[in-house]
Amino acid sequence: MTAALKSSKPERASLRLRRATSFLVAFAFVVLLLSGIALFVAPSGRVARDIGWGLIGLNKESWGSLHVVFAVLFVGFGIVHLVLNWRPFRSYLTDRVSHHLRLTRELALSLLIVLLLVLATLFSWPPATQLEAAMSYFRRDFWSSGAVGGNPAHGRRESDSGPVRVRAWPRQLGRTSTDIMPAAAHGHRPAYVSSCCALS
Ligand code: HEM
Repeated sequence: MTAALKSSKPERASLRLRRATSFLVAFAFVVLLLSGIALFVAPSGRVARDIGWGLIGLNKESWGSLHVVFAVLFVGFGIVHLVLNWRPFRSYLTDRVSHHLRLTRELALSLLIVLLLVLATLFSWPPATQLEAAMSYFRRDFWSSGAVGGNPAHGRRESDSGPVRVRAWPRQLGRTSTDIMPAAAHGHRPAYVSSCCALS
């Protein structure tokens, strides 16, 4: 008779629960990872709204909601998973005889790598700088560079931040304030207004 057939009913129920939480953690992580990647390559909120950005039919807000909801579920399922597997987890980390934390080479190395990555992020060392630069590129330039059908006017430099100076626009475009106001109300900048909106 196999071990599975020999096990009692409560044992089978607990095994099922453990299995189910393992799958839930894994699937929640997949959704978290995919939504995290989508948020990583997404343009800034303003550009996303203006160009109607979306990825496989979902806009930035939906990706953000998925990410936050599954972050909470991932943590929740993760805690249940850890509680249900506490014994094997503890024996994985502790010495069998003394029951004290066993500082293996792998544990020490993992801690060192994480510590170095924390320092790299705080002090802007590689690879943190490259990751930040890649994210800024997607935020500000990629979707608005025209390479993927965006509008170059959405390329945003730091100097563009702050309140939009509406009064300068009509002069730049050779139009009156009344012409420009509907577009201005949507926060569009001059080049975008002139190229995208039919102004009478
Ligand atoms: C699986 C790998 C993950 C990737 C690739 C990822 C990526 C990202 C990215 C790119 C953002 C946007 C950051 C920004 O707007 O500046 C983000 C936001 C966020 N992430 Fe993750 N993330 C991951 C896992 C997690 C986990 C494990 C948690 C929490 C348990 C988490 C919680 C959040 C929260 C709360 C936000 C803010 C969302 C918002 O402002 O709408 N993420 N993540």
